[in-house]
Amino acid sequence: MQYKCCNHILGSIDLSFNGFKYCNEVWEGPEFIPYNEENAFFKNEKRRLDIIDNMKKGIIPERCKQCPMLEEKDWKEFDGKIYKITIFNWKHCNAACFYCSVHSEYSNEIKKSSDYDALPIINNLINEGRLNSDTFIAFMGGEPTMLEEFPELVRLLLLKNCRMEVLSNGIRFERAIVDMLNADNNNSVCISVDCGSRETYKRIKKVDKFEDVKSTIKKYIDKTGNKSNRVKLKYIIFPNINDNKKEIDNFFALCNELGVKTAARAVNHLESKMNTKNQAIEKSVIKSYEYFASQALKYGITLQPEPWADAIIENKVYNCRKIPLLLRLKSELHFLFGLK
Ligand SMILES: C[S@@+](CC[C@H](N)C(=O)[O-])C[C@H]1O[C@@H](n2cnc3c(N)ncnc32)[C@H](O)[C@@H]1O
Ligand code: SF4
Repeated sequence: MQYKCCNHILGSIDLSFNGFKYCNEVWEGPEFIPYNEENAFFKNEKRRLDIIDNMKKGIIPERCKQCPMLEEKDWKEFDGKIYKITIFNWKHCNAACFYCSVHSEYSNEIKKSSDYDALPIINNLINEGRLNSDTFIAFMGGEPTMLEEFPELVRLLLLKNCRMEVLSNGIRFERAIVDMLNADNNNSVCISVDCGSRETYKRIKKVDKFEDVKSTIKKYIDKTGNKSNRVKLKYIIFPNINDNKKEIDNFFALCNELGVKTAARAVNHLESKMNTKNQAIEKSVIKSYEYFASQALKYGITLQPEPWADAIIENKVYNCRKIPLLLRLKSELHFLFGLK
């Protein structure tokens, strides 16, 4: 049937920090249903199905109205199959990025999620035949490689040939990621590097682990042969920190040195997804965003599509270019010469 809907509403489950959700594209919602609430899983599913019914009648929830995922097309009927599971039911992490949108808790210990055990729910979905090779699983967190049950979750999902993407800081090498990358369904790991030098790395991540990350990337690439294009490096562009040509050049030199073939660029979504009124994107960030793409092209590196970042940069979503003149000049100098 032709109507405005999105893949999340059609069949997503979020194992979120405090409970079940069906989408994490916009910060404003939906509210989570606490894991310990009776029938929480089914309540989450029911509200999703109710939204589909409403969308068929043209009734769009307020929080979805500006989301770039919303699309008018001929949507298939929901058949019980899960399209996407986002697993981020823990917050511990072995880095302390200043920008971390989940306000991770720093820890150097591999430990279980204190919130909820994802294994039984994944097991149930597998037993009910609701996961298959069309299902996409995103591991977020916290840091997936610091989650005790992570290798077991990957093993289970590999059995159903689900497509997986792990977002990782790459500080710790994890064998399960190599197994996942070598499987037959385009699985990927996206490593947040956000810079091209040790000095900037420390400034952003608050840990001195740039060399460890390089070593992890190299191992993933070396161990995946002709599937090494599944190892992606990510760069979130921040004003006056890494939005200058030199840092971006260093990042692409790093990609070149390590044999990375895919990169992703993003912008800070802390303010943009939460405060939809006053988002300010500095000109230097907008320029760096373009420069990043031109350098990717120059080095023959594929850019992963990032609809949210594109929408913010292209000013489709928020009014984000009202920057005072002095700040604009400062960011211009930073972009060109890396001046702080
Ligand atoms: C919370 S992190 C957890 C995964 C992993 N520890 C990592 O850093 O990649 C999940 C994703 O959110 C992104 N992220 C975190 N804070 C962000 C922010 N303020 N703006 C844009 N992306 C952000 C990270 O780059 C990462 O790809
Ligand atoms: S590495 Fe990921 S989870 Fe850890 S602090 Fe940084 S963004 Fe947050």
